[in-house]
Amino acid sequence: MSVNKEIKKITTHTLQSLKMQAIPISMLTAYDFSMAKILDAAGIEVLLVGDSASNVMAGHETTLPITLDQMIYHAQSVVRGVQRALVVVDLPFGAYQGNSRRALNSAIRIMKESGAHAVKLEGGSEIEESVRRIVKSGIPVMGHLGLTPQSIYQFGTYTVRAKEDLEAEKLRSDALLLEKLGCFSIVLEKIPAKLAGEVTKSLHIPTIGIGAGNNTDGQVLVTHDLLGITKEFQPRFLRRYRELFTDIHDAVQEYISDVKERSFPNSEEQY
Ligand code: KIV
Repeated sequence: MSVNKEIKKITTHTLQSLKMQAIPISMLTAYDFSMAKILDAAGIEVLLVGDSASNVMAGHETTLPITLDQMIYHAQSVVRGVQRALVVVDLPFGAYQGNSRRALNSAIRIMKESGAHAVKLEGGSEIEESVRRIVKSGIPVMGHLGLTPQSIYQFGTYTVRAKEDLEAEKLRSDALLLEKLGCFSIVLEKIPAKLAGEVTKSLHIPTIGIGAGNNTDGQVLVTHDLLGITKEFQPRFLRRYRELFTDIHDAVQEYISDVKERSFPNSEEQY
């Protein structure tokens, strides 16, 4: 008797169905093959090839420097490690703003060259034309509102967004607009929990929060933050599940001392 071991892939429809059943959605960032493989095997539903790769992988201060080619390279590596998760890729700064044709071309390059399943763009009414065009071409789009790091020099700081009525009102209407344009989900970053809950209730599509409280349809974190690899970054919303900076640091110090003492390799670790 043959056992059907086919893996049921996560799609945008799965996420919609999780929202309908009030089952929270789990999402994490991934930028390389090995990490993607671990996260996928652990059962994560969505992997975001975030432009936070600019900070975490390349050491830049902001997400602005990362290029479309570099995002495609990261996305290709992640896709090769994934069997089940939905892979979403950030359109980087400069690949879509102010030009919907460029936006569509960037999204098409990501899908064609990496094999990813969807793209994510930051912003609301400002990127309406781009979102409309990309969705119309058949590419699933995830929105991103609230603290949108590609606009950091306009914001000036990484503090909580939409605390004032005017900005909260714009965020509410941007969320409805993105849903109307056909986005399958929206990330809400660093906004008051109450506002995130209201927006989530007003939408049919799922919201995924980061620093947006517990009333969104799902949660996302940067994997290197959750694992304690990025040691200095300690915002209030972050829960660290491990302290890998320390674990890796200590393991490497043990290795160095074994090498210095000639206790590595031993007689069983050689040919
Ligand atoms: O780039 C990224 O990691 C993100 C998440 C913080 C949502 O956009």
